[in-house]
Order: sequence, then C-alpha cells, then structure tokens
Amino acid sequence: MLAGYKIYGHGDNEVRALDGITVGFEPGRFTAIMGPSGSGKSTLMQCAVGLDRLTAGQVVIGDVDITGLNEKRLTLLRREQIGFVFQQFNLLPTLTAAENITFPWTWQGESPTRSG
Ligand SMILES: Nc1ncnc2c1ncn2[C@@H]1O[C@H](COP(=O)(O)OP(=O)(O)O)[C@@H](O)[C@H]1O
Ligand SMILES: [Mg+2]
Repeated sequence: MLAGYKIYGHGDNEVRALDGITVGFEPGRFTAIMGPSGSGKSTLMQCAVGLDRLTAGQVVIGDVDITGLNEKRLTLLRREQIGFVFQQFNLLPTLTAAENITFPWTWQGESPTRSG
C-alpha cells in the first residue's frame, strides 16, 4: 500500500508527483500500471519498492511499514523480498542470464533450486 506524494525540485521547478494518491496491490496478482509519459509510473514503482522515498506519506509492503526504515533495513528488504527489472535492465554483463537472475541468492550464500 502506498499513500502520499513525492516532490521533485524546488521553487519554480517544483513538481509534485503522485499527488496524494492511495493505491494497494493485492498479493498473488499481476498489476499493470499505465499512463502517459510524466504521469508518475516510475515514481510510483520506485517509491513502492523502497528504491526512493516519498516526500510525505506511507508505504507498507506486506506487514512491514517501510516508511521509516533506514538504508540498511531497506537494502535487506529489497535483496530478500523484491525483484525489479529496470527499463535500462542494469544486467551484469559478465554473468549469464541465469546468473543475473540468481545473483541475489548466490550473493547471500544460498543455492536457488531450478524448477520447470
Ligand atoms: N529526478 C527528477 N527531477 C525532477 N522531476 C522529476 C524527476 N523524476 C521525475 N520527475 C517528474 O515527476 C513527474 C513524474 O515522472 P515519472 O515518475 O518519471 O513519470 P513516468 O514514469 O510515468 O513517465 C514528471 O512530471 C517528471 O517530470
Ligand atoms: Mg517512467
């Protein structure tokens, strides 16, 4: 659940994105976010997963209110619970496709199992 807004810039350049929206995502469902360029899709995604912070408001993932988490706690949450494929991919070029996917686990010393 995300509720609030994000302000970019200052003074005459100030932009208020996600102007006071409240949105919830049901577990186990695919959700598509659509809208014109500049409507706030990237801001929503980045704030919803703890990559960026709202200027005011609240973000709750499952039972965890991430609004006040410090960077270390946020990093652990992202590493253990969140997968994110960026528009610009951010793949590690020295790894294979499979290694890019399993990287968060191997980084933590775990061995993910293959299915299918
Ligand atoms: N780093 C930034 N600095 C200033 N304004 C930004 C920044 N990122 C986004 N914005 C502004 O916030 C609004 C929402 O942008 P964004 O979330 O990138 O929309 P979308 O992903 O739907 O194109 C736009 O008005 C955009 O110009
Ligand atoms: Mg975008």
